[in-house]
Amino acid sequence: MNDRPAVLGGTPVFEQKVNIVRPVLPQLPEMASDMEAILQSGMVTKGRYLRAFEDAVREHLGVRHAVAVSSCTSGLMLTYRGLGLTGDVVVPSFTFMATVAALVWSGLRPVYADVDPETTNLDPAAAEAAITPNTSAIVAVHNFGNPAAADELAAIARKHGLKLIFDAAHGFGARYQGRPIGEQGDANIFSLSPTKLLIAGEGGIVATNDDELAERIRLGREYGNDGHYDTVFAGLNARMSEFNALLGLKSLGMLEAAAASRNETAARFEEWLGRLPGVSFQKVRPGDRCSYKDFSIVIDPEKFGMNRDELALALAAEGVDTRKYYYPAVHHQSAYAAYYQGQPLPATDLLETHSLSLPIWSHMPVEVTEGICRAIERIHLNARAVREQLGAGQRA
Ligand SMILES: Cc1ncc(COP(=O)(O)O)c(C=O)c1O
Repeated sequence: MNDRPAVLGGTPVFEQKVNIVRPVLPQLPEMASDMEAILQSGMVTKGRYLRAFEDAVREHLGVRHAVAVSSCTSGLMLTYRGLGLTGDVVVPSFTFMATVAALVWSGLRPVYADVDPETTNLDPAAAEAAITPNTSAIVAVHNFGNPAAADELAAIARKHGLKLIFDAAHGFGARYQGRPIGEQGDANIFSLSPTKLLIAGEGGIVATNDDELAERIRLGREYGNDGHYDTVFAGLNARMSEFNALLGLKSLGMLEAAAASRNETAARFEEWLGRLPGVSFQKVRPGDRCSYKDFSIVIDPEKFGMNRDELALALAAEGVDTRKYYYPAVHHQSAYAAYYQGQPLPATDLLETHSLSLPIWSHMPVEVTEGICRAIERIHLNARAVREQLGAGQRA
């Protein structure tokens, strides 16, 4: 094996690019008869597959209600509206922009609080410190599928009389203290888009034990129209079609295997990459299971020999696709920077510049995982020359 990194002229570890995600989907024969049934019924939305999917998800999550919507973003918007939030909402900036976009669309003001640098989830102490007299809720994220500190956050929300919502976009396949995420706080809102473990094409689930909220989400996904055309509140069209519900239903049957396999892949990554200096991993708290919707490493440039951005470039030359989740963090994005009040967010600032998400799939072959590790190792072993080469490239 030629151990010269590709960026220095070695043969790339992968001939074909290893994509950051590779959705696992059911085969056509598993879907065909149900798709035909949908077409023959003439009910392409609001039909029996939606009900079957919602029932199956409710049972899987162990919650009173699982309401299917068109996306996690619309589910978040309807939940914020449905809970009657007002004023300020405490939220991490180290998240995907949709968590905050839905707040702004609901006329709410995001107040950014820092994350724990190890779990990468909202730090309960920072969340409490960010509460203002105008705060109506805390929104936490199960980041990359790592369960947030739900009990600690619930105690703070109770103490201050606040609502507690979890952006569970990455949450299918995750377990909080042995049970699927879903029943914590006032609601958990999941995404079913193709980068997730449970895929409906597009879609979301609002999971809640609150009967009133569930009813408002059901109304809200139908324009706020209760069927009498006298709108109860301004809603959306956030329905899920029968085809999406069918795909979700089939994908749910594949979820446990996907989560187990991703955990094996993550363990393999950690075993190999943990031997390299300057590489650290997201910490999953004892008793929890991460879905590993993403597998991210944090690079300490001093110890590793180059920074995250240089590593990303060198990996691209090896045929390894990566993402800088989340760079820029939300409080640095054009649309949301105006809400930032200058409070220190040291862990967010560190992660946005040092964290790199590697490819992870629900069934990633061992050779691919090992190939990615080998690429990172040989880039590290040749760090000085790689940096010089990348610097020369930039100067040219
Ligand atoms: C943390 C987070 N929240 C919300 C969303 C939005 O999900 P959707 O695309 O289903 O609206 C995503 C998308 O990946 C996400 O990562």
